[in-house]
Amino acid sequence: MNSERNKTTETRPKKLTGQKVGKEMIMEYITLNNGVKCPAAGIGTFMLSPAEAENSVREALKMGYRLVDTANAYVNERAVGRGMRESGAAREEIFLSTKLWPSEYENENAVDETLERLGVDYVDLLYIHQPAGNWMAGYRQLEKAYKEGKARSIGISNFEGEFIEELQTKWEIVPQFIQVEAHPYFTQQELRRTLDRYGIRLMSWYPLGHGDKSLINEPVFTKIGQKYGKTPAQVILRWHTQMGFAVIPGSKNVDHIKDNLDIMDFRLTEEEMAEVAKLDRGERYYHRTDEQLKAFAAWRPAFETK
Ligand SMILES: NC(=O)c1ccc[n+]([C@@H]2O[C@H](COP(=O)([O-])OP(=O)(O)OC[C@H]3O[C@@H](n4cnc5c(N)ncnc54)[C@H](OP(=O)(O)O)[C@@H]3O)[C@@H](O)[C@H]2O)c1
Repeated sequence: MNSERNKTTETRPKKLTGQKVGKEMIMEYITLNNGVKCPAAGIGTFMLSPAEAENSVREALKMGYRLVDTANAYVNERAVGRGMRESGAAREEIFLSTKLWPSEYENENAVDETLERLGVDYVDLLYIHQPAGNWMAGYRQLEKAYKEGKARSIGISNFEGEFIEELQTKWEIVPQFIQVEAHPYFTQQELRRTLDRYGIRLMSWYPLGHGDKSLINEPVFTKIGQKYGKTPAQVILRWHTQMGFAVIPGSKNVDHIKDNLDIMDFRLTEEEMAEVAKLDRGERYYHRTDEQLKAFAAWRPAFETK
């Protein structure tokens, strides 16, 4: 599928500056507004069962991945922790991201319980997952965890519009990340103006359209992919990193997981980035309602017990 896969880092174009992470893979890093470095690409675990998450995380880390994203709400944090340990990768090499669910915002043990499920004594990134319930209490928990060294960076997820506007008047610590829906059909143009003011980085969810074939099948990705010997999905993921986004495609397919890391040995030209930009129609896949926010606040994940 990928004729370029066997290329060694020595043959990559000189201007690419990523670090080698395994025999064939290169990784680029993003420097956050607090100086912490985060891999530009990783693996997401939304909708993966515990067994699938354990397998995907273990295999991804064995290939050279160093960024893993999970959440209280995915009910797979114990499995993600097992996958990390089984991979043999050193804890300090892994950038582990998770999210507090609204039901936990007023639980003063939420951070410790999250760490216990993951089997770690700190995470690299801790989000509040939704602007629902008493989210300011949730944000204060993040700030406390950051000061106590339990979270090396903090983030907000799904806080576009009025929510980030309100938070700006209240935060003591500026977050390092926002995690929101982003892909070539929806590039978060308006939000990015606010993020630039504070040096907040964007981590894209639904980066491949959550499996929507119409995005992956856009002819422009096939055309660019043919030039570089890459799949359409790899071109989309590379577009994310060139936009400055961290990207965490979800997958339970080991071939896809391998492809999704193998994106740092080529670069879209300015003209190709401009061609992709023409796909932006300001259209999300996921439309959240106020009713859903209420339902989010009322729901409590049935956490794994083992
Ligand atoms: N903060 C939030 O509210 C929020 C919401 C949604 C997601 N997220 C995070 O963002 C991550 C990414 O989102 P997502 O997983 O929902 O959507 P996604 O990454 O856009 O798409 C995942 C889908 O794409 C397929 N896929 C993956 N790699 C592929 C490849 N190389 N070629 C073709 N198909 C491929 C996967 O199938 P296979 O399994 O067959 O590979 C899966 O069906 C999540 O896992 C989660 O960590 C956060």
